[in-house]
Amino acid sequence: MNITLKEGIDWVGYVDWTVRDFHGYKTESGSTYNAYLIRDEKIAVIDAVKAPYAEKYLDHIRALVDLGKIDYIVCNHAEPDHSGGLPAAMAACPQAELVCNAKCKTALEKHYDTAGWKWHVIDDGDTLSLGKHTLTFINTPMVHWPESMFTYIPEEKLLFSMDAFGQHYASAFRFDDEEPLDVILHEAKTYYANIVMLYGRPTAQTMERAAALDIEMIAPSHGVIWRSHIKEVFAAYQNYVVCKPQPKVVVVYATMWHSTEKMANAILEGAQEYNVQALLFDVDTTHMTRIVTEVLDCATLAIGSPTLNNGIMPSMAGVLCYLQGLRPTNKVGFAFGSYGWSKRGGPNEVEATMKEMKVELMREPIRAQYVPTPKLLEECREAGRQMGKYAEQFVR
Ligand code: FEO
Repeated sequence: MNITLKEGIDWVGYVDWTVRDFHGYKTESGSTYNAYLIRDEKIAVIDAVKAPYAEKYLDHIRALVDLGKIDYIVCNHAEPDHSGGLPAAMAACPQAELVCNAKCKTALEKHYDTAGWKWHVIDDGDTLSLGKHTLTFINTPMVHWPESMFTYIPEEKLLFSMDAFGQHYASAFRFDDEEPLDVILHEAKTYYANIVMLYGRPTAQTMERAAALDIEMIAPSHGVIWRSHIKEVFAAYQNYVVCKPQPKVVVVYATMWHSTEKMANAILEGAQEYNVQALLFDVDTTHMTRIVTEVLDCATLAIGSPTLNNGIMPSMAGVLCYLQGLRPTNKVGFAFGSYGWSKRGGPNEVEATMKEMKVELMREPIRAQYVPTPKLLEECREAGRQMGKYAEQFVR
């Protein structure tokens, strides 16, 4: 495995092949916790790893340098998948100063026993010379936490981008040109949708700052390092930050006695009459990680639930909670579903959530009492046609 990014700069992280959950995100491809060692007149480590893998991380560093010679450990982000290994690292590296911004220091102090740590608190725009390399710190609040920052080395045109541009993707390789581009871009999209989508505006501001830098390599905290496809991942992020619609229709539903399922299928049939990508997801058979990833760039979204105990199905409630929290923007759609005797019921509750999500509603909810009639299914088909027609205007 090639771990060298640039002369004197090596990857010292951990590949987590088996992790399958990241606070609700189903990480089917595993992940990596990337950390980097810079050997110069001064020696610095960029970031750490999740706590259980701290010894592996320290072993990777030990293989290249005496831990007693490390001058700085930079923390770009306090979330425990990156900072969990810091207590072990600070204990093993007696000379090291922990380099971070003030918000990060506060967060680390609330996570760990930091008594005895030597701190080197920096601010946005500050620099730290290692000799031939200069670390430049750029605050990137809310990408993904308030204390998050990038570290940039101008002499190498190298950006350590922390969560940004990352992918939950375990690999034997470290670089983007060693893996199929469509696979890693899809993983980057899944990562953005499930981790960063809520923070589209700060991410757009961060992108502007990153675009002003001269960059040859982006080394994120998860997944492969971008050196050959920076333009592609930047372009993808430009679309992600505004949830740019594609010619794509997404129909998401839960069902009890198949009535809402019949409605969902009729909506899909209508949408398929147009030249769009039309996708159908049953929330009981599709994980919300996939659903949110497809919603990120859809143009139109129909969400359906039957009525259970005067409300929506619990499985749909979970998906809506996740979707609402991640706040996809630029969506047009409507709610649908069945009911029996409740005046409120599934479709109305779905619509209420869609309104809170600021989905532009194309129409009132389509409601079927008990079982949809042929006439009602035709109404569903027609609503699907409207979705397809609207989505068709967008170009890929
Ligand atoms: Fe990979 Fe926000 O932590």
